[in-house]
Amino acid sequence: CGKKEEAPAAPAAAPEAAAPVADKLKVGFMYVSPIGDGGWTFQHELGRKAIQEKFGDKIETSMVESVPESADAERVMRDMIGQGNKLVFATSFGYQDFVQKVAADTPGVKFEHATGYKTADNAAVYDTKTFEGAYLAGIVAGAMTKTVGVVASVPIPEVVRNINSFVLGAQSVDPSIKAKVVWVNEWFAPPKESEAANSLINGGVDVMYQNTNSPAVLKTAEERGARAFGKDGDMSGFAPKAHLGSAVIDWTPYYTKVVQDTLDGKWQTGNFWWGVKEGAIDLKKIADDVPQEIKDKVEKAKAGMKDGTFAVWTGPVKDNAGKEVLEAGKVADDAWLRSINFYVNGIEGKVPG
Ligand code: GUN
Repeated sequence: CGKKEEAPAAPAAAPEAAAPVADKLKVGFMYVSPIGDGGWTFQHELGRKAIQEKFGDKIETSMVESVPESADAERVMRDMIGQGNKLVFATSFGYQDFVQKVAADTPGVKFEHATGYKTADNAAVYDTKTFEGAYLAGIVAGAMTKTVGVVASVPIPEVVRNINSFVLGAQSVDPSIKAKVVWVNEWFAPPKESEAANSLINGGVDVMYQNTNSPAVLKTAEERGARAFGKDGDMSGFAPKAHLGSAVIDWTPYYTKVVQDTLDGKWQTGNFWWGVKEGAIDLKKIADDVPQEIKDKVEKAKAGMKDGTFAVWTGPVKDNAGKEVLEAGKVADDAWLRSINFYVNGIEGKVPG
């Protein structure tokens, strides 16, 4: 597909095409929420800054924040392309169909869509194994309470998988752990995230995880004397008393690879999913009052994820209606993990939809 690039780009990009020296690779990032001070988008921004620093004047990066998962996303990507960006990172699930549409019209541009599942010759999808971080956080939670809660964002398999993985981690310490979930149906809505956290606490939860994009759950836990985790970024600074650990994503290794491949003319489409093993996921800053044996258990799980001897989703696993969904000894493959739409045993209620 490399050959397709020149023809369609010619009318709009004639001066560039004629340039005798190699231009900088222009790389655009599109974010769903404000960069803010911690969370999903903040981590993507750290990745962008890291590659800008690493590749210096070989690349020129830019970003647009707070782009809704609507036709606005298409407009922003077309604008980025008009400005000469040849590599576009679209960093939220709901951008998927807009990426597909724009990619079909602009074969000379490479697209990278975070957390989606649709690919094209010039559009790859990528994600990190956030469920591994959720499981590690769960191990810590399991030692600190009997009832955990999760503030959930948008009901897609990724989020259901993270809720379940957190609970499986907790149950690896204490099989009797029960969990409650409240959905806010948005990625970034701090007031709703706080409201959901308050309702969990009012319902008897004292340790929370979340799949939303701000530190609101953690801040609410701090105010209410409960405990919670940071997610995506290191959120320890927001809640010194409540913070139990942060399940951190580092997008830098993947972004570095993609930019290097693009500069080398080796960019490829595909579906890339990096985790603890690749240095993309870690549980950081575990609280001082977490017992040492639990910290050791986290380290052991991490070591197993790194050397391939431990997989979070190893059977037997039962759903919350008691049905076996993964038989004993079986390790789930990626396709199975990508289609999870049930709650594991111990979680109250039903997956929406
Ligand atoms: N957009 C903003 N946050 C997220 C997230 O955690 N997952 C996905 N898939 N998209 C997002």
